[in-house]
Amino acid sequence: MCGIVAYTGNRSATPILVHGLRKLEYRGYDSAGIAVQREGSLAIYKKEGKVANLAELLGDYRQDPEHTEAHVGIAHTRWATHGPPTTGNAHPHCGGENRIALVHNGIIENYRPLKAKLEAQGRVFLSDTDSEVLAQLIDSLYEEDLVTAVLAALKEVEGTFGIACISREEPGRLVTARRGSPIVIGLGEDETIVASDASAIISHTRQAIYLDDNDIAIIDGGKVDIRTLDAIPVQRDASDIDWSPDAAEKGGYEHYMLKEIFEQPEAVRNTIRGRVDLERGSALLSGLNLTPRELVEFRRLLIVGCGTSLNAGLVGEYAVEDFAGMLAEVEQAAEFRYRNPIVGAKDIVIAISQSGETADTLAAVREAADKGALVAGLVNVVGSTIAREAGRGIYLHAGPEISVASTKAFTCQVSVLLLIALKLARSNRLSRESGVKIANEIGRIPELIQEVLEQNEAIAEVAKDFVGYEHMFYIGRGYMFPVALEGALKLKEISYIHAEAYNAAELKHGPIALLDENMPVVALLNQGPGQEKTVGNVEECRARKAPVLGVITQGDEEAKAACDWVIEVPASPHYTTTITATVALQLFSYHVARLRGCAIDQPRNLAKSVTVE
Ligand code: F6R
Repeated sequence: MCGIVAYTGNRSATPILVHGLRKLEYRGYDSAGIAVQREGSLAIYKKEGKVANLAELLGDYRQDPEHTEAHVGIAHTRWATHGPPTTGNAHPHCGGENRIALVHNGIIENYRPLKAKLEAQGRVFLSDTDSEVLAQLIDSLYEEDLVTAVLAALKEVEGTFGIACISREEPGRLVTARRGSPIVIGLGEDETIVASDASAIISHTRQAIYLDDNDIAIIDGGKVDIRTLDAIPVQRDASDIDWSPDAAEKGGYEHYMLKEIFEQPEAVRNTIRGRVDLERGSALLSGLNLTPRELVEFRRLLIVGCGTSLNAGLVGEYAVEDFAGMLAEVEQAAEFRYRNPIVGAKDIVIAISQSGETADTLAAVREAADKGALVAGLVNVVGSTIAREAGRGIYLHAGPEISVASTKAFTCQVSVLLLIALKLARSNRLSRESGVKIANEIGRIPELIQEVLEQNEAIAEVAKDFVGYEHMFYIGRGYMFPVALEGALKLKEISYIHAEAYNAAELKHGPIALLDENMPVVALLNQGPGQEKTVGNVEECRARKAPVLGVITQGDEEAKAACDWVIEVPASPHYTTTITATVALQLFSYHVARLRGCAIDQPRNLAKSVTVE
């Protein structure tokens, strides 16, 4: 997804901007560019492909006075939405022969009529993008003051934006604004670094201000003046970014994804710390801010999310029904929004999102809130839009997730959902004794994950035999079905092997027609409810010559005998096996993708945070 970095201060801007862009590479992008202001002019550099291509174009920017004497600049990584990923479509975009330069995240929905209007005024467009329309619009409204022009332009646009803008006529000044696309302002000593994501600023400062929707900031060196888009001054407090620069680096692992897989025991420990009530067999979730009455009187718990977060949500649905005997449903966030859902004051809606910026999930939050539901966020990124708009909720505390493929967010999301289910269950029908048992099982998750991680090498060995396949099935029943979904998602996104997940029972209703020796099946065969039935499905697969990889409970010789390969995970109730089996499948996908030579941390066509619908 697109990324923004901008700088104003005493240092030369270009090295800081290039460094910031590198920190944003993990988000996924297809071109990059920067604009720097120097002696009454703007110099623009853009290049399709990686930031390395842009750096090559910039040449010796650490020595070249063109750069060393430029102390203000903006930069961008673009992930194509309007127009192909070409150098011409890369940001920054300009208006009026490089009088202003703009970088933009988000989508200008009414760009067509605006473009027609500007063309009628004689303006010529150099790109296919909606962003250039905003740049030209600002320029067309620019008389003497950039802020006035930006405010006037933003009044005319519909859609979402996070922007940074500079003018050749206003030395040292940077203007940034947001609506629906995050902007973080890093506060340094006489300097300011703006970015769409804290990763780009944490090596410079930990003090940051998160802009709210409809805020604009006018920045000169270290001076930050924040107003609403109606030009009313507002106070936004700075907060501490608690990620260390080290935490955002690979820490010696070959890929961020592997690092993040290995961080999971610690991440879950941080997630559940202080939230498991072993004494009362319940959970302490003050962030949900639910009264005892609300806990028992709601009609339905609705969980919304996308991708991996949606798969985690499905475990949540099963757990709430299982532990609490209460009505729970999970729904893809965009579907929820577009099908006029029946939701109201008696519903609790939990929006799950690692980034807290996913456009579809945010739209679902707004829809649910508009319809009067009680909305809570289950989010990792502190200060993100969903976290703030939901107003209540639970932070995951999983630490930064840099790899595009989500891993530790899933395990932490499931851990919290189990706690929510436990809390609801104890407020309703579950005995203290049963609650204590579940609470203890949740407390064991970090050590269970550790045991799975110790099998990394064995899993890498198994992965070798799957490198040559182009299609795979994943099957599971009950709690193991969301694991099948997540396992297949992980494999397809990073190894590009086509993988489909089915509820094991569904196999016979169609997909079985595809089974032969070229269609391996990953079967979730862990001991627990439904296991024998899934073993039966495995027999059906093998009878059709499909090779079978079983994820089984350690030491389960019967399950082992039913499979061609196995990965063993420790014995635990199915509700926590959702986590251990998923970790095993994360490692499996990782090794298959690595052996196939794939770009694991930045898979093709994917973005870390999907802030457009
Ligand atoms: C898969 C993956 C995506 C995200 C999805 C939602 O590995 O990363 O499927 O889970 O785009 O993102 P968040 O959780 O940030 O809302």
